[in-house]
Amino acid sequence: MESDNKGEFNMEKRDLLYEGKAKILYLTEDTDLLIQMFKDELTAFNGTKKGSFDGKGEICNAISTYLFEYLENYHVLTHFVSKSTDTEMVVKRLEMIPIEIVVRNIATANLSKTYNLAEGDVLQYPIIEYFLKDDQLGDPMINEHHAYAMGYATPEEMRMISRVASKVNAIFKSFFDRRGLLLVDFKLEFGKLAKNLLIGDEITPDTCRIWDKKTNKKMDKDRFRYDMGQVDKVYNELKDRILSAG
Ligand code: CDP
Repeated sequence: MESDNKGEFNMEKRDLLYEGKAKILYLTEDTDLLIQMFKDELTAFNGTKKGSFDGKGEICNAISTYLFEYLENYHVLTHFVSKSTDTEMVVKRLEMIPIEIVVRNIATANLSKTYNLAEGDVLQYPIIEYFLKDDQLGDPMINEHHAYAMGYATPEEMRMISRVASKVNAIFKSFFDRRGLLLVDFKLEFGKLAKNLLIGDEITPDTCRIWDKKTNKKMDKDRFRYDMGQVDKVYNELKDRILSAG
């Protein structure tokens, strides 16, 4: 074994399994575990807009580690095992369900446009939306019946997914509130391991919308999507606020 491709967790990184827009998954010496590496890249609008900044991978790894560990305290199952280096975490290998689960608390972006809701309107009840993960089709919105009909998930799995997504929303809403932040919306992905459904992927400002409670300052990837500037500064500030005691 070569010591220079091992992290602090002492897990040997082997072949690249999958390279995504902002992350790389590597096989390891343990067939049940992967290393998830956060890159400095940012993309938006289905990969058509690209950027990066130094330290972004480290910030996203730190935030995702913190939030996955936080969820474990509430007995929410995730693929997270351990943070292994500044930009890498060891995760359990899952059989991913190709559906993006979006939970929205506050109207913005397409929700505001489609339903003519004022940006920032607090929804009377959270909305859960499902999107098929397929870049070529442009991630079309689906409902649970599409998921059963096309064999992506069973009715029982979809029920469990919506229950866990609601629980995560409740946990994170009060977590961010205590830090002076508003959880506008976020996206989860789930995967199967044995008989269990676990949250996979990442929970970072790339996959959430978070605003400052007092000023409504956007503290997430919308700064990059809409060229609002100070992406690196704001990601750093958000990391400090998430990791603070609250
Ligand atoms: O279209 P609109 O921007 O209104 O909504 P969306 O793209 O469904 O985004 C809702 C939330 O899910 C945001 O916090 C996005 O950052 C996140 N999302 C994501 O992480 N990955 C995607 N492929 C799509 C959305």
